[in-house]
Amino acid sequence: MSEDPREKIIICRCNDVTLKEIEDLIDRGITDIEEIKRLTRIGMGPCQGRTCIPLVVSIIARKTGKKPEEIPVPATRVPVRPVMMGVLAGEMDDEE
Ligand code: FES
Repeated sequence: MSEDPREKIIICRCNDVTLKEIEDLIDRGITDIEEIKRLTRIGMGPCQGRTCIPLVVSIIARKTGKKPEEIPVPATRVPVRPVMMGVLAGEMDDEE
């Protein structure tokens, strides 16, 4: 039995979401990135989607024929990058 090679391509490394999972959802008509996010948890990892959201936008664009700028992206919630709790509490320097 041959494995689909898209199962080995990780789109969201924080949550182990593969290219196949994303493309299967799009093939089922789910092209709203917020809905894909709820179903797969893309964008909910420590990086907050800095890597995977642009990739999913490009996949949706490729599969639907839309321009990437036509695809609404989820609002970024602060902090936009991982921050140590000590930095937020003022006990650590962000550069440490
Ligand atoms: S790579 Fe998807 S949330 Fe980090």
